[in-house]
Amino acid sequence: MRTPLIVDVDTGIDDSLALVYLLASPDADILGIVSTAGNVPAAQVARNNLAWLDVCDAPDLEVALGAATPLSIPLRTTEDTHGPEGVGYAVLPDSPRSLSTRTGVDLWIDTVRARPGEVTGLVTGPLTTLALAVREDPELPRLLQRLVVMGGAFHHPGNTTPTTEWNVSVDPEAAKEVFDAFSGLPAGRRPVVCGLDVTETVEMHPEHVRLLAEAAGSAPAEVISPDDLLTVRSHAGNPVIRHLSDAIRFYMDFHRTHDQGFLAHMHDPFAAAVALGRVPVTVRPATIDVELAGTLTRGMTVADWVGHWSREPNADIVVGTDPVAFFEELIGRVGRYARGRSRPD
Ligand code: RIB
Ligand code: CA
Repeated sequence: MRTPLIVDVDTGIDDSLALVYLLASPDADILGIVSTAGNVPAAQVARNNLAWLDVCDAPDLEVALGAATPLSIPLRTTEDTHGPEGVGYAVLPDSPRSLSTRTGVDLWIDTVRARPGEVTGLVTGPLTTLALAVREDPELPRLLQRLVVMGGAFHHPGNTTPTTEWNVSVDPEAAKEVFDAFSGLPAGRRPVVCGLDVTETVEMHPEHVRLLAEAAGSAPAEVISPDDLLTVRSHAGNPVIRHLSDAIRFYMDFHRTHDQGFLAHMHDPFAAAVALGRVPVTVRPATIDVELAGTLTRGMTVADWVGHWSREPNADIVVGTDPVAFFEELIGRVGRYARGRSRPD
C-alpha cells in the first residue's frame, strides 16, 4: 500500500534528509512538495527542494511555493542552524526544474479535494501554508486522511526559547489555527504530533553517516570526526551521500556549538517515517493549544492530557519511539536508494 502524501517543508538540513528518505520510500506517493518559509526564506526552501530532486535524479514532482511570511509577524530564519542556504555545507547545483504554477495553498486544497479521505499531510516546518489553506477551505481537516506534524515541545525544553520549538515559534498563530481547526476529529484521524520530547532522542551520530555511505556502496569510507577542521568536506564518490554528508556535518557542528554534542537531532526524517508508519511509536491523546500572549512563553505548545479544559483531544502526541529501529530504517532505505544513484553530478 502506498501512502499519498503532501510534504510541507522548510528545507533545512533535516528536511533535506526527510525528503531523500521519502524519495527512497517506494510506499511514499509524493503528490506535491510545499516550500514554506522557516529555516530559510521560502524561495530558498523551494530552490533546495528542486535541487535535491536533481541530486536524487528523482521524477518530476510538483514543488510549489508556500507562505513567504508568517500569518501576522515578520519572518525569522535560522541560517546559523542550517547554513546560509539551508543545506549546511552542501553546495547543490542549481536545478533546471521549474516551480509549480500553483501556490502551496492551492496545492494543499486541490490535492486533498481530488482524493478526499486518502491523503496524508506531513508538515516539517512552520504551519503557515497549511493554516492559510484551512482558512480558504475549512473542510480540509476532514478531507485529509491524516496530518503528521513535526513541531512543539510538551514535557521538554524548547530549542528556540526555553518553552518553544522552532516550527511553532516561527508562526505561533498558524500553529494555533491548525490545532484548533483539526479539533473534533475522531480517534484515529487526529493529527500525529512529533514534538522535541521524542525527536531529540533521534540523535544522528558520525557512525550513522559512515553506515549510510557504506550501505550506498560509496567510497571512500565517510568518516566525520569532531576533530575535523571546519573546512573539511566530503569526498564521497556517491553524490547523494556527498551532499547529505556535507549538510549533516554542518548540523553536527551546530549541535556541538550549542553543547548538545557532535550529533544531529533528525526531527524531520523521523516525522516522515511516522507518516509512512515505518517506525514504532507510542502516542497519547491530548488537547493542544498554543500560548500567544505569554511574555516569556509565547509560542509554547500546551498539552492538556487529562481534560482540564473540558475540550476533546485534538492530537495524538508521540511520547515514545525506538531510535535504533528508526536509523536502521533510514539507513537501509536511503542507502539502497543512493546506491542506485552513483552517477557523478
Ligand atoms: O525544531 C526542529 C524543527 O525546526 C525541524 O523541522 C527543523 O528543520 C526546523 O524546521
Ligand atoms: Ca524543518
